[in-house]
Amino acid sequence: MNQSQEIIEQYNAAVVSSYGRLNLALESGSGAGGQDADGKRYIDFGSGIGTNSLGYADAEWADAVSEQAHKMQHVSNYYYNSTAAQFAAKLTAMTGTDKLFFGNSGAEANECAIKIARKRSFDKYGDPNRTTIITLVNSFHGRTVTTLSATGQEHFHNYFFPFTPGFRYVEANNIPALREAIDDTVCGIMFEFVQGEGGVIPLEQGFVDEIFALAKQHDLATISDEVQTGMGRTAKLLAAEHYGVKPDIVTLAKGLGGGLPIGVCLTRGEYANVLTPGTHGSTFGGNPVVCAGGLVVLSRLSDEAFLREVAEKADYFRKSLEALPRVKNVSGLGLMLGAELDGVTAADVLKAALENGLLVLTAKTKLRCLPPLTVTYEQIDAGMEILRRILSE
Ligand SMILES: Cc1ncc(COP(=O)(O)O)c(C=O)c1O
Repeated sequence: MNQSQEIIEQYNAAVVSSYGRLNLALESGSGAGGQDADGKRYIDFGSGIGTNSLGYADAEWADAVSEQAHKMQHVSNYYYNSTAAQFAAKLTAMTGTDKLFFGNSGAEANECAIKIARKRSFDKYGDPNRTTIITLVNSFHGRTVTTLSATGQEHFHNYFFPFTPGFRYVEANNIPALREAIDDTVCGIMFEFVQGEGGVIPLEQGFVDEIFALAKQHDLATISDEVQTGMGRTAKLLAAEHYGVKPDIVTLAKGLGGGLPIGVCLTRGEYANVLTPGTHGSTFGGNPVVCAGGLVVLSRLSDEAFLREVAEKADYFRKSLEALPRVKNVSGLGLMLGAELDGVTAADVLKAALENGLLVLTAKTKLRCLPPLTVTYEQIDAGMEILRRILSE
């Protein structure tokens, strides 16, 4: 038995099988290049589902993380810490938001957003029925009972009854349906600018404009789930910039820590002062080691030249994907791309790519690519060549 097989057996014997996993034990890497336990190399177009934003083991990031670990690894939220303070100051300044809440994952960031929208509504209107949050059909907001409930996909609404009430699902880009869904029980609208897990589908500008117009008219919270689209993934710091809007609440996770667990809920204006002592918390929230890594991500992204380069690489990546055989069309923004295929399933291509040293993802029926923002042109070419061979068969 090789090393990888040993690891896989040990893992499966001791970890619940809640994931459909592939037979790959990744052990080390550099940039968009990974290596398994037996030394086989891979080009990674998945970056841990958009999480290793600077690639594997970025030197500056790794130094910052280890330096902080040597200084102090955790500070409870009874106290303050300079690394978390700097991180929050920089992230709110960069995103033009006022205050944030620190959590550890996308689901936790979205839980916080839902709590803020509901509490703000109650604080202002005193109506215990003004609690409904409109979300979109085909959305994905997380795996906790409440964020599963917020997720507008029926197949997630199983087994774990009862789900949190107070969500209403509207088809994306259907303006009449959105208008019809609003009544006096609604307090907010939550959406992804590009539905990631739902198939890499960007919202239409007109629909986004209508969300914001209706929110203004009815005094509703606008909540953008940028867990996947945020932090340079779409070649802008936030996907909201593509649409020219400023949501009241923005959630971020995935790429924010460069591969360390963090989720934040950013707020603007009156939404920044809704949570008061005792109304919300998270033991690990604002962890200084995680924030030290996050600060390196922020400093990289605050360089305009870096984001310009991401945009150029994204354009090249997209054109290369579009030129592949059997690719019908490519959707998405920046380095968040989905390819619809003809005559072959994305799942089969993913398996063949893995055998040939390339890691890709799927989303619904599409082949999905979320490479690290630091992927090189050479790696893009090499990965595309593997896909070309597979898709030519
Ligand atoms: C848009 C969006 N929201 C929320 C989540 C949940 O994030 P996490 O798995 O970190 O809880 C995801 C994860 O894929 C996501 O893509």
